[in-house]
Amino acid sequence: MSSLLAPIEPAFAETAAFMDATLDALLPKPHGSEARLLEAMRYATMGGGKRLRAFFVMQSGRLFGVDRRPLGRVAAAVECLHAYSLIHDDLPAMDNDDMRRGRPTVHKAYDEATAILAGDALLTLAFTLIASPEAHGDPYVRCELAARLGQAAGHAGMVGGQMIDLASEGEELPLPEITRLQRLKTAVLITFCCEAGAIMGKSSATARQALTNYGQEVGLAYQIADDLLDVEGSAAATGKGVGKDAVRGKATVVASLGVERARAHAEALARQAALHLDLFDEKADLLRAAAQFAVMRKA
Ligand code: IPE
Ligand code: IPE
Ligand code: MG
Ligand code: MG
Ligand code: MG
Repeated sequence: MSSLLAPIEPAFAETAAFMDATLDALLPKPHGSEARLLEAMRYATMGGGKRLRAFFVMQSGRLFGVDRRPLGRVAAAVECLHAYSLIHDDLPAMDNDDMRRGRPTVHKAYDEATAILAGDALLTLAFTLIASPEAHGDPYVRCELAARLGQAAGHAGMVGGQMIDLASEGEELPLPEITRLQRLKTAVLITFCCEAGAIMGKSSATARQALTNYGQEVGLAYQIADDLLDVEGSAAATGKGVGKDAVRGKATVVASLGVERARAHAEALARQAALHLDLFDEKADLLRAAAQFAVMRKA
């Protein structure tokens, strides 16, 4: 199990710095009478976040020798899309949160209309980035990435999950339905990130499937950890409000199973996730460690 001891913190820090530089280069500089929109896009994407989704893109691509620059572009696309999902998630009509990444949420720092538009623009920018030749030299690969990202982000993925999340407030959902909700809202996008490197590296179907399986389980574990942090974490560490899920009656694994059983469930998922990487050599050690990080994290 020495693989689980892979030093993940320096690798995360390196990815975070690389992503800030990449996003800085790719996001439009504020100009013209739409400058407020462009500022809000930068505010939402830069200088914060764990960059876990980017990390999964970078590390899955590394398994197949994919170059860092195209991986950075695809990772930036996912971080833009993820930032959009957070902006909208925080809006008064959704979770109505004031703090994100240790700062006021976008609608607080700007205003609701700007937040909605910045989200829209980041979502569309994500697909522009993936469709550009810098993301991959092969147009078929770019189309596959765009199609998969669209599935993961839309009604059959993140947005669908967000709908169920809101519609289930105050309801007691059975555990399999909570799992479906969390798979859609969180795990499918994380799964895309883990699969992206395999798509870009034109890997074998077996290797790609292994990463898909890994992503599904890590993604579920990651959302349970988020729900645990809402109960047990601090605003100082997470950079966002805590203790709100219970007030809103969110359907979470923690609400259904209680803290201890939810944690055990998340830990089991993370262990299972790492087992899917058995066919890869030590190049996958950081992904093995990331599975553990997904549930041990404090932020
Ligand atoms: C928060 O995601 C929303 C979830 C789907 C759990 P992260 O916890 O990855 O947020 P950042 O990007 O690190 O801020
Ligand atoms: C959000 O889940 C998932 C998204 C798709 C954005 P949460 O609502 O639990 O995320 P936080 O706790 O606000 O970051
Ligand atoms: Mg939410
Ligand atoms: Mg929320
Ligand atoms: Mg949460």
